[in-house]
Amino acid sequence: MNVNDFDLICRILKERSGLTLAKDKAYLLESRLLPVARKWKFANFEELARVVRTKPDEGLLRDITEAMTTNESFFFRDIKPFDQFREIVLPHMLAARAQQKSIRIWSAACSSGQEPYSLAMILSEQAAKLQGWRIEIIATDLSTEILARAREGMYSQFEVQRGLPIQLLVKYFTQNGDRWQINKPIRDKVSFRPFNLLQPMSPLGRFDVVFCRNVLIYFDQATKGKVLEGIASQMADDGFLYLGGAETVLGVTERFQLIQGQRGIYGVQTAKPGLKTAAAG
Ligand SMILES: C[S@@+](CC[C@H](N)C(=O)[O-])C[C@H]1O[C@@H](n2cnc3c(N)ncnc32)[C@H](O)[C@@H]1O
Repeated sequence: MNVNDFDLICRILKERSGLTLAKDKAYLLESRLLPVARKWKFANFEELARVVRTKPDEGLLRDITEAMTTNESFFFRDIKPFDQFREIVLPHMLAARAQQKSIRIWSAACSSGQEPYSLAMILSEQAAKLQGWRIEIIATDLSTEILARAREGMYSQFEVQRGLPIQLLVKYFTQNGDRWQINKPIRDKVSFRPFNLLQPMSPLGRFDVVFCRNVLIYFDQATKGKVLEGIASQMADDGFLYLGGAETVLGVTERFQLIQGQRGIYGVQTAKPGLKTAAAG
């Protein structure tokens, strides 16, 4: 792959998804784009790059962008964030929203659905407490292909063995050959929509809890900052933001502060009653 072709594709990826690729990732670009070249009946990567340069087709650009996303996810990823959700965030929201009886949760780069379905199972386990409440889980991703998988909720044996407690597998999934489908009542708790984090976020409405995990790592500092500012503007004043284990707001934005003693959860500037942000001391 020549440098010009690499730079061209990198520019497109950066514009369309925020993904920043280091120069030493040319092998990754080529291996992920070969199936796209085949699908579009190009002889090789060079021909794909030539078409992108001379007469770019929206469908081709979309396929290139989607092929470069990393969709790895698993149920109850890192465990702790989901324990915190069950034990701290949900009780806080149930007390704070006792009047409205409504909570909106956003899984902002949901991939194949394990993150929003983990939340839906937690809510289902607490069904008795949530009677009369309207709890929305909006799950979005850039990739329409991965969203189709998420909606279907069908997982391999390997995927259900990664992080999902066996009693939840038995309770909420149905075996279908060597695959497992999450049951309809849980699927129905999640509303999947395509959404690019680089777009204006106001059409999504306001959220009480946002999971934006393991996607900012692919962006440069400026893009991380813009995405986090956008999320902050969509959050309730006492809302909670979750980031992935390798992600932080430090040095990126001042709109969020770590909730003291709760690694990985951030509050929007103001301290919450009973839950202090680190800056508030
Ligand atoms: C590694 S997965 C993270 C899944 C899940 N949040 C988790 O932590 O397990 C990253 C996801 O981000 C999505 N993504 C990448 N760029 C995006 C963008 N600009 N807007 C929305 N989603 C994006 C990818 O399609 C991919 O499904």
